[in-house]
Amino acid sequence: MGHVFVTRTIPGRGVEILQAAGHTVDVWPGDLPPPRAALERALSAADGALTMVTDRLDRDLLAGAPRLRVVSNMAVGYDNVDPAVAAKLGIWLTNTPGVLAETTADMAFALLLAAARKVNESERDTRAGGWKTWSPTGYLGQDVFGATLGIIGMGEIGTAVARRARGFSMRILYHNRKRRPEIEEELGVEYAGMDELLAAADFVSVHVPLTPETRQLIGHVEFGQMRPQAIFVNTARGTVIDQDALVEALRSKTIGGAALDVTDPEPLPIEHPLYSLPNVLITPHIASASHATRARMAEMAARNIVAVLAGEVPPNAVNKPFKARGQAASAEG
Ligand code: GLV
Repeated sequence: MGHVFVTRTIPGRGVEILQAAGHTVDVWPGDLPPPRAALERALSAADGALTMVTDRLDRDLLAGAPRLRVVSNMAVGYDNVDPAVAAKLGIWLTNTPGVLAETTADMAFALLLAAARKVNESERDTRAGGWKTWSPTGYLGQDVFGATLGIIGMGEIGTAVARRARGFSMRILYHNRKRRPEIEEELGVEYAGMDELLAAADFVSVHVPLTPETRQLIGHVEFGQMRPQAIFVNTARGTVIDQDALVEALRSKTIGGAALDVTDPEPLPIEHPLYSLPNVLITPHIASASHATRARMAEMAARNIVAVLAGEVPPNAVNKPFKARGQAASAEG
């Protein structure tokens, strides 16, 4: 049976599932990700790794893990591991699609609502004793009901956000690599070019995976095209935007505000200018962080490892090893 390294304490039955399949499980005990040297050491003896978005597994680390057959990322995104590099080395890479879309959409909507109605600014002031009276001009925000939402990236999370927006009678524009006629029909969303979407949206929410094509997708030009009151919401990855361009757009009031669950880097250093801007709300990459969802993610990640170590194709593969390690028959590819 195999040896599995889990890079952090995980919720739910993830470890139990691995152990029930007969594997030895070694869980990194720290609250912070294992440093590179510790990861290197652990991976050199592991058949499977259950990893987080905070673990960067580059070519050298993977190449130094001769027994490793599967990297199972407990996340839907997998920009921390190059699927092609893993495939060349004969290592499966898996993720956790589906189970976190609704929870992430809840968070995107929470951020949108909070930024629109200045929940964080007013709460901060209230705690600091700033609540003097009901004010006819205090903390005026924007209506979400009936406003226009621009969704960039209409995958499962973007779609889940659109469903919520319908409940607020929003006009919903979306931009995606491929048009999604079935979603247009189901949810009444309208496909728009990027320029058209940015010019029309009161709220812009981004839901693309981080890939070479989406890195810095939103920069000076795109922020410049947004409406002056537009609120930008990011629950995807910090590097899908040019963060310096965002700071400038907020400072110059080119846009109205931003609500960010992801930044570049993470954590964002406390002296970063984004923290000094009142119209910015920042949360620590928690969009999938509900008890139930994180448990489902951990269990799904464990099952992907169990499958590979049993010689099966994992249910949530994002690559296809040229010749999967430890298997008599090679996978095609
Ligand atoms: C978290 O960021 C994920 O990709 O699941």
